Amino acid sequence: IDLYIEKETDSTNEKAKRFIKKLSSTAIKELSEDRLFIFAADRQLEGKGRRGKKWLSSSEKSLSVSFLFKLPENYPEIPQVTAAAALAVKNTFEKFSLKTDIKWPNDILVNNKKICGILSELFFTEDKSAFVIIGCGVNLNNSCFNEEIKKSATSFYLEKSKKINKNIFLSNFIFEIEDYINKYFSGYRKEVISKWKKSLNIIGKKVKVRENNTLYNVIIKDVLDSGEILAELEDGSKKTFHSFNTSF
Ligand code: BTN
Repeated sequence: IDLYIEKETDSTNEKAKRFIKKLSSTAIKELSEDRLFIFAADRQLEGKGRRGKKWLSSSEKSLSVSFLFKLPENYPEIPQVTAAAALAVKNTFEKFSLKTDIKWPNDILVNNKKICGILSELFFTEDKSAFVIIGCGVNLNNSCFNEEIKKSATSFYLEKSKKINKNIFLSNFIFEIEDYINKYFSGYRKEVISKWKKSLNIIGKKVKVRENNTLYNVIIKDVLDSGEILAELEDGSKKTFHSFNTSF
């Protein structure tokens, strides 16, 4: 394992990108797909969330970690590797006796409040090698949040009234995510996706979905292997929604 830990950085996802940019094209070519690079930081000064939002992580009470690996050549589609990451977070919390839910596509919630967010990015080098960066922001020992996110955020400490050792959480998390990523790329992709789908628990539910600026009242019919949701609109027609421009 290649593990880079820092007290403070701008964003561990950006750090992972800078790391790839510095590699020579020979190094990139020779890099094996099963090599996992891990960038962790106690504090992020410019943490990034999904849909261009900020991710508050300037307190050392949270954990910011990004996983980087090269995609196997000829990988056919945008891989739904965040499913693997979401399951890994869920399993890790379970080891510490905390039950969590996965909200499509990859928010980890406890009682409808977010305890972990995941931002996955694809990065292409000049010679067209593709890398995946999975960035996870985990609220561990936070005892309070600012007004803006207070109602929608929680932490391990707030849920269990006890602190958790960050290093022990991180080492368990690394074990889980390596296991799920290996499964995902070694013939068990369907199993990972179907486990993720089961944990999402949204099929059959009536929800309001916002795509760009339009609000739809829909019934969720299925979650496709691509990670999109297939929904029935009020007029009975079907539509798929992608996680990049959709929110509930
Ligand atoms: C979200 O729910 O909006 C996703 C939040 C992702 C935050 C993590 S923290 C580690 C990594 N580095 C970043 O800048 N963002 C991700």
